[in-house]
Amino acid sequence: MSFSTASQLFAVVGAAVALKAASDLTSFVWFHFLSPPRYHRYLHGDAPYALVTGATDGIGEAIAKELYSKGFNLIIHGRNPEKLRKVQDAILSSPSPKKNNVRIWVADASVAEIDFASALKEWEDIEITLVIHNVGGAKLKGERFDAIPEETLFSELHLNATFPWLLTRALLPKLRLARGPVELVFVGSVTADLSMPGLNPYGATKAFIKQLSGAIAADEQFRKPTNVTASYLNVGGVSTNNRGGPPSLFEPSAARFAKSVVAKVGSGRRVVVPWVWHAAQFWITGFVPESVLMAGLADTTEKEIVAQDKRA
Ligand SMILES: NC(=O)c1ccc[n+]([C@@H]2O[C@H](COP(=O)([O-])OP(=O)(O)OC[C@H]3O[C@@H](n4cnc5c(N)ncnc54)[C@H](OP(=O)(O)O)[C@@H]3O)[C@@H](O)[C@H]2O)c1
Repeated sequence: MSFSTASQLFAVVGAAVALKAASDLTSFVWFHFLSPPRYHRYLHGDAPYALVTGATDGIGEAIAKELYSKGFNLIIHGRNPEKLRKVQDAILSSPSPKKNNVRIWVADASVAEIDFASALKEWEDIEITLVIHNVGGAKLKGERFDAIPEETLFSELHLNATFPWLLTRALLPKLRLARGPVELVFVGSVTADLSMPGLNPYGATKAFIKQLSGAIAADEQFRKPTNVTASYLNVGGVSTNNRGGPPSLFEPSAARFAKSVVAKVGSGRRVVVPWVWHAAQFWITGFVPESVLMAGLADTTEKEIVAQDKRA
């Protein structure tokens, strides 16, 4: 290869790389700082309802409050009726554009058998336009995978994967009857893409719902399109009881995080990083060699297990 051909080749490759970087940066700035909120798309009909699972604490409770303040009626889900009623009262006494309804749905999401038919019967008279599949979580585990009781593994699998999977299946026929767009939002985790120590099977269940959300979007949006869309949220640390630490730039409070989630609902993207500082964190992490990253994570995990045991 002559010198001039090589330099022309470098110039073309350099221009392509610069173009890609400029396009990524423009898309990043547009998405996080300039794009207008689109949740209004789901505020159609006489009384649009948002169903939020795991809404008695943390991110789910904060998203429910944020959606209510924007004009949605709510179905809040949880396992503890008393806690659900407290959250219901708190939401009902918070400001909203009009006095909307807040219904409650009690169901333990960590078991295999859920009576979805009865729940659907209760919702026969209402139109659900937004579903936030938020319920989930797992404790960090000090023991090795083979020492974790089968019961724990199954309950985490049901809570994080089977429940949103079967709930979606039960809801879809109803959602397709809505007279406008409907969105299913799956609250995921960075652990779907970055296997972390001490979190088996949590990360695998989040990878499951990431695929599930994509598969539903593919079916509902592109194969005989319907009014239903789906998106998956890639989430880093959020300061909730679950985590224990105070809010920070990379670990926002649930309330701040919920605002960014609601602002990005209906963005049209299939995978969304709602919190800008998580996006920055994931980008930086991409430059760290895997072995260095994993060693650091293993070290942090051991410390977090000690802190978690102290909180328990
Ligand atoms: N916090 C983070 O750093 C973080 C990071 C990435 C992803 N996420 C994801 O974000 C979602 C919410 O996390 P979070 O930190 O807000 O959790 P959280 O504070 O522990 O709240 C979890 C919610 O789910 C409910 N819940 C738990 N187990 C249940 C069960 N078996 N049946 C019914 N409801 C149940 C809880 O009810 P009770 O009030 O009765 O406990 C609570 O309302 C999860 O999907 C989690 O994986 C969180």
